[in-house]
Amino acid sequence: MSTQTWDAALYDRHHGFVASYGQDLLELLAALPGERVLDLGCGTGDHVALLRSRRVAADGVDASAEMIARAGDKYPDFPYFAVADARELGAEDQYDAVFSNAVLHWVPEPERVAASVARALRPGGRFVAEFGGAGNVGTIIRAAQEVRAESGLPAAPLPWYYPTVGEYALVVEGAGLEVRSAWLFDRPTVLDGTAGLQNWVRMFATFLLDGLDEAAFFAALEERVRETLWRNGAWWADYRRLRLVAVKPGAPRG
Ligand code: BEZ
Repeated sequence: MSTQTWDAALYDRHHGFVASYGQDLLELLAALPGERVLDLGCGTGDHVALLRSRRVAADGVDASAEMIARAGDKYPDFPYFAVADARELGAEDQYDAVFSNAVLHWVPEPERVAASVARALRPGGRFVAEFGGAGNVGTIIRAAQEVRAESGLPAAPLPWYYPTVGEYALVVEGAGLEVRSAWLFDRPTVLDGTAGLQNWVRMFATFLLDGLDEAAFFAALEERVRETLWRNGAWWADYRRLRLVAVKPGAPRG
């Protein structure tokens, strides 16, 4: 869904919190046994497996072939994983719900994503999504860009889409969905271990390191953000989530 490549094993080892934080989004989804659900950006497949264990007919798609391969290795009995682009899901009136956790900030052309989701839903179907919203990881990014500037390097272009509630509601409505609720909230997220911040950058934002000595970059970054993001012996990422529930107009199937 972006040009980012993923080390799926590293992701599972250090970033398991991504799937864990999705638990309360799953509660919001409230999928019923027998419902058809698409996990858009399923990563290494944990939510699909959980939904399947609840007899929900869940499929998972992800733009990353590495993630889909690892999902297949972790859940060899499930043939429900496929590589797909969120902008071209190719499904039509097929799903009772499209669910997406911590992915859509990676995908350019949000209008195309929303249109593709709207097509995939059956009338009455719901879109339940959470991803980075306006201001997400602002402290980390500001500090990293300052470190780059001090080394005489240009600001690194960012690959993310972090809309406000108003901006994203317009995108979703433009695709013909009815927004039922949308909100933006802070979710400081603890990173794993004393190397947590470094691991986060190595996993998600290596472009910040371009042109810089890695050890010097991390020393300068950690010094800058320590006062704000180091608490109780751990690094915390300043995540901000945008959460949205929208429905495709039309009568649900009887
Ligand atoms: C997020 O989930 O907000 C996020 C994850 C990786 C990079 C940037 C943002």
